[in-house]
Amino acid sequence: MNIKNRLFLGDCLEILGRLPDKCVDLVFADPPYNLQLENELFRPNETRVNGVEDQWDKFPNLEEYYNFTKSWLAECKRILKDSGTIWVIGTYHNIFSVGKAMQDLGFWILNDIVWIKSNPMPNFRGVRFTNAHETLIWAKKDKEQKQYTFNYQAMKMLNDGKQMRSDWVIPLCTGSERIKLNGEKAHPTQKPEALLRRVLLSSTKVGDLILDPFFGTGTTGAVAKKLHRNWVGIEKEQLYVDIALERINSIEVSEQDLSLFSTPSKRDRPRVPFSALVEQDLLEIGEPLYSQDKTYSAVVCADGTIQAGGRRGSIHKIGAWLQGKKTCNGWDFWYCRREGKLVPIDRLRTQYLKEYCGLETEII
Ligand SMILES: C[S@@+](CC[C@H](N)C(=O)[O-])C[C@H]1O[C@@H](n2cnc3c(N)ncnc32)[C@H](O)[C@@H]1O
Repeated sequence: MNIKNRLFLGDCLEILGRLPDKCVDLVFADPPYNLQLENELFRPNETRVNGVEDQWDKFPNLEEYYNFTKSWLAECKRILKDSGTIWVIGTYHNIFSVGKAMQDLGFWILNDIVWIKSNPMPNFRGVRFTNAHETLIWAKKDKEQKQYTFNYQAMKMLNDGKQMRSDWVIPLCTGSERIKLNGEKAHPTQKPEALLRRVLLSSTKVGDLILDPFFGTGTTGAVAKKLHRNWVGIEKEQLYVDIALERINSIEVSEQDLSLFSTPSKRDRPRVPFSALVEQDLLEIGEPLYSQDKTYSAVVCADGTIQAGGRRGSIHKIGAWLQGKKTCNGWDFWYCRREGKLVPIDRLRTQYLKEYCGLETEII
């Protein structure tokens, strides 16, 4: 069954059961919140607040909500590749139940991300704090799984060169992005594309397949398409299926250079042994290396080791030993002299990758 870029109309529990094992790279799920609203809510000017009053958000009690949650999560675990990860978004109404179900099923939580809404709706009655965030749980299939996609470098770039944090400030979906029908919101909980963009850029690669079992207006599919990823969705309301398909079909993706949508990382570069720099005469035998502040120095040996203070070993081991540390990344620690200036030996590694491994784009 080809499930790529298809939207299924129906109940997710039934449709998930028909999807093959281990076929998707990522799950993004925005399930019913189970808001348990009892009274209508009005603004101070007496206009009614359109909350989530739809039938799909109603469950008889918390236990039934938990059982439903555990059932669809179990199916997602089966459908997810072993190296895949899952994101589930929710509010205080449901996220604790979701988190418990995930842990009960053996998912291993990697992070909880707080989506801070820069433009939240106030608490109109003034009886509680403004509810200004939602929580996203990001998890892998189990504790032992070491291989999963996390585009660390891309996230760092998105955050002006600093490690991306777990609090994301992103506005609610408003303005022209918000889909309307007869002047009213077409869906009560349409998520902002910026949120999905960050999720997908952080944890998928170009061409990956993303499953969203609660598709709504198709935000996941729309962003996946724009980022040259694939999607598969499930939605039980015909109206939302129609809206989502129209939305996704109207997106035109140009055959732009696909590499613009990739998230390369220094870690993905081919491995280059330090000795290769010596073999290719990028470094000379006997040439001195320095720490950035010149406190430490060593000389290059013919076999790709370096020597300092009567000891010989790898760039990492000698760097660590000189500093009295357990570990040291020698590629970052050591510098050589070029045209009167100290340059990191990592630069020679990049030169090697360009000249001998066909590396086209350098990440700086
Ligand atoms: C919170 S909304 C998702 C909104 C979506 N992320 C968006 O940006 O438009 C949850 C959606 O799941 C759908 N839904 C609820 N229960 C479902 C079920 N059992 N199977 C399939 N879809 C369901 C609802 O109709 C609703 O559109």
